[in-house]
Amino acid sequence: MSGSSRPSGPAADPVVEAATRQVMAALADPALRPVVRTFFDEETFTATHVVHDPATMKAAVIDSVLNYEASSGRTKHGSAQKVVDYVRETGLEVEWQLETHAHADHLSAAPWLQEQLGGKLAIGADIRRVQDVFGKIFNAGTEFARDGSQFDHLFQDGDTFSVGSIPAIALHVPGHTPADMAFVIGDAAFIGDTLFMPDYGTARADFPGGDARMLFRSIRRLLSLPAETRLFLCHDYKAPGRDVFAWETTVGAERAHNVHVHDGVAEDDFVTMRSARDRTLSLPSLIMPSVQVNMRAGHLPEPEENGVSYIKVPVNRL
Ligand SMILES: [Fe+2]
Repeated sequence: MSGSSRPSGPAADPVVEAATRQVMAALADPALRPVVRTFFDEETFTATHVVHDPATMKAAVIDSVLNYEASSGRTKHGSAQKVVDYVRETGLEVEWQLETHAHADHLSAAPWLQEQLGGKLAIGADIRRVQDVFGKIFNAGTEFARDGSQFDHLFQDGDTFSVGSIPAIALHVPGHTPADMAFVIGDAAFIGDTLFMPDYGTARADFPGGDARMLFRSIRRLLSLPAETRLFLCHDYKAPGRDVFAWETTVGAERAHNVHVHDGVAEDDFVTMRSARDRTLSLPSLIMPSVQVNMRAGHLPEPEENGVSYIKVPVNRL
């Protein structure tokens, strides 16, 4: 970079810079700040966010939940129905059904919500890598396309979109899985499984394709957004000493207080801590149905000749 007067330091990140400009504009103009209503599913500790532009009443649904009873193999729509009721009562028009990633701990209700409410079903473009990895683990047949074509839209890092008249930008934040995305809508960032509440820490990085070092770098990108940026999480498990669920915080609060990645924590130290902690965690109880359904954009596996869909369990594999 001869001739440049740029000071040495972290490499420029044009996507984070664009997201920062968007957040600053929203902080300066209330009309660019979305309304967020969250529905918390206590069976899977998942926060589903409905975000809308109050000027146009256009909305996005982020990380919905299809209830699943493992013992009977039955799906139910109680959690998703609450979203439908709210959207209808409030008079919202859904433009997007967004998934921050292919979840391993709950099934997505996005296709069912799409039938009820409309909206384009979208996820990160690297879902293709997730489909490839899990397509092999579950020995899905050739009828299972691994090109992301089950979704209406695949986001790349830096892609811009909008919710009504509120501008939005997608950030690729891999680590928990290879395909994780964060969606920054006005001044609100929906960050999936990267950070949890400051008193709880960060998401695990040990699923196939996960990477603790990559997760740290993704988190540092998110934490370079303005301190006032609202952060909305995908999960909460309460923390020792806290007896209510919480899913909203800010960049400033995470930088000051996150027990795993507050300012000053070095990358190598984070990787050591995260890897050691992940070795103590058991797999989520719904990982088998979740992954097989969510890699298909929330659709059940193709029914067999008797018309029934089946969930497989690979023995001694995961
Ligand atoms: Fe997850």
